[in-house]
Amino acid sequence: MSYAEIYQGWKKDPEGFWMEAAKAIDWDVPPTKALFDDNAPLYEWFSDGMVNACWNAVDRHVEAGRGEQTAIIHDSPVTHTKREISYVELRNRVATLAGALRAKGVEKGDRVIIYMPMIPEALEAMLACARLGAVHSVVFGGFAAHELAVRIDDCTPKCIIAASCGIEPGRVVHYKPLLDGAIEQASHKPDFCVIYQREQEVAHLEEGRDFNWHGFQYGVEPADCVPVEGNHPAYILYTSGTTGQPKGVVRPTGGHLVALNWTMKNLYNVDPGDVFWAASDVGWVVGHSYICYGPLVHGNTTVVFEGKPVGTPDAGTFWRVISEHKVKSFFTAPTAFRAVKREDQHGEFVKKYDLSELKAVYLAGERADPDTITWAQDHLGVPVIDHWWQTETGWAIAANPLGIETLPVKLGSPSVAMPGYDVQILDEGGHPMPKGEMGAIAVKLPLPPGTLQTLWNAEDRYRKSYLNHFPGYYETGDAGYIDNDDYLYIMARTDDVINVAGHRLSTGAMEEVLSSHPDVAECAVIGVSDSLKGQLPMGFVCLNTGNGRDAADVTRECVKLVRDQIGPVAAFKLACVVDRLPKTRSGKILRGTMVKIADGDSFKMPATIDDPAILDEIADALKTLGYPAA
Ligand code: COA
Ligand code: AMP
Repeated sequence: MSYAEIYQGWKKDPEGFWMEAAKAIDWDVPPTKALFDDNAPLYEWFSDGMVNACWNAVDRHVEAGRGEQTAIIHDSPVTHTKREISYVELRNRVATLAGALRAKGVEKGDRVIIYMPMIPEALEAMLACARLGAVHSVVFGGFAAHELAVRIDDCTPKCIIAASCGIEPGRVVHYKPLLDGAIEQASHKPDFCVIYQREQEVAHLEEGRDFNWHGFQYGVEPADCVPVEGNHPAYILYTSGTTGQPKGVVRPTGGHLVALNWTMKNLYNVDPGDVFWAASDVGWVVGHSYICYGPLVHGNTTVVFEGKPVGTPDAGTFWRVISEHKVKSFFTAPTAFRAVKREDQHGEFVKKYDLSELKAVYLAGERADPDTITWAQDHLGVPVIDHWWQTETGWAIAANPLGIETLPVKLGSPSVAMPGYDVQILDEGGHPMPKGEMGAIAVKLPLPPGTLQTLWNAEDRYRKSYLNHFPGYYETGDAGYIDNDDYLYIMARTDDVINVAGHRLSTGAMEEVLSSHPDVAECAVIGVSDSLKGQLPMGFVCLNTGNGRDAADVTRECVKLVRDQIGPVAAFKLACVVDRLPKTRSGKILRGTMVKIADGDSFKMPATIDDPAILDEIADALKTLGYPAA
């Protein structure tokens, strides 16, 4: 069947479509129906089914006689190690870990925070939680202790599983002091912590609270899989909103399994046994969906890569991994390709490796610029597919579904809506816009299985952030248009979220941090264009009058404050002191105009501006930071 037939088939009978897809999952009790809409506009899928995610990701492949197949390949150029784990080994390791967690009191519904680098044990920890029906929340290693503390207080975990350290090129990231600091800052205290001691750094364990990963598993009874309801939360994943308080996206178990499994063949075009690699991090949604659950549920081999696109050791690393492990489908962020392209314009590294097993490359996480796609297509000789989705949806809203049909690629577009998503462009009043015209991108409710069910402990915020603005729709926060062939174009965010190297960050959260500096009277953070990372945050601060502080000292302190409070991942390095911020007469800071000046774009003087002369002062300040960039 063609994409058009499948999409229309879904539209005609959405429930039938998803009930059919649900047959590919092992249920302890099959659901009697797909959609539960009693509580609309809050929807649930497969709520009366009983299922276990770990069973589907691990045990069922062993039961089916595929236990010897490699489940996980760990390839770690930063530690110069490689390791393979078969499905049967993974089953045994996860069952024992789950048994040890249960022996310490972790049960269905308890939250467990996981703070680990790109090692197989991170996936094992996720799967062990899933085995027990515990709700994991993975926190990215590039966040500072404060961010971890905020998440501890929000999801109140019974246990935290962490590694002793992560490894970034040129430095060891000391996880344990960050963890200890976060627990100290948080009001909620976990009952216990489990620490995976890495060779590169052995951390101090706190007597009575911290347990050694290996030691605490000794002699325990392995745990069986605990069936949970289809709407039981599989995990909470925090993502940036408009404030310093991140949003805890709640992923329901049943729909998650059904939808991810469906995408593995239909979108990524892999069959069980094929090697699938998503070069992301378990701390992001891509890591949850396509390093851990998607490939494992579908019976693929997944690659856990602990390295960077460049510098570990060179710009050929991606191609080495693809060639060595026979990767069939590869998923990364455009920024990673831009980093490689910058060091290997002519693809000399690509030529060194046999990439004959590679059939397609998928890009997501930020806008894929046509230059980058063209470079990859030219050098790799396979389709390079942009696709668009969000932490909230957990899988692609729009894509080119190669497993169904290869649609023509249009540069600058992530192609067409996937079954499950009725994507519309709306004006401010919520009316559909004509083809080709820009507006807010919204998805008609209900969202498909596998998308967020609510925000953790924050249903009101869920409604306010996503449902209230356009009744009957989910508001994506992105703006764009749809062309005459129904291809989607994602052009900008409608809120203050920025995208730095494929990482979603909130300028509002950075402003909150800057405002906490004792000498800062007011501030603004904007996202300026960057040829490598897509965007970079830039801060403008006004100082309290008469404080006599040296501007350079204050900006240095501001940079350090954001790094200490949010973390190195914020990449906040550009800041300056200004006398005043440009505002409307009603006092709204003109951030959009500041972005245009920084990017060297033309702009219309806002009619409501209070004092146009301030824009010249901003332009002067930008020059000192080297913007607009040449
Ligand atoms: N733990 C601790 N620190 C981390 C970290 C982690 N897991 N990941 C990143 N950091 C730190 C980096 O060390 C860096 O710190 P520094 O300021 O001391 O140099 C900072 O956070 C920014 O990191 P990063 O965004 O990785 O920038 P970079 O300059 O080191 O590398 C790229 C640039 C393009 C190579 C890199 O951003 C990249 O590989 N991006 C791909 C992103 C991706 O996969 N996104 C997932 C969505 S699909
Ligand atoms: P995250 O939740 O971190 O995955 O970030 C989601 C946001 O990243 C989206 O709302 C978009 O703003 C942006 N994004 C992700 N994929 C794409 C894409 N293919 N094209 C354009 N923007 C994208």
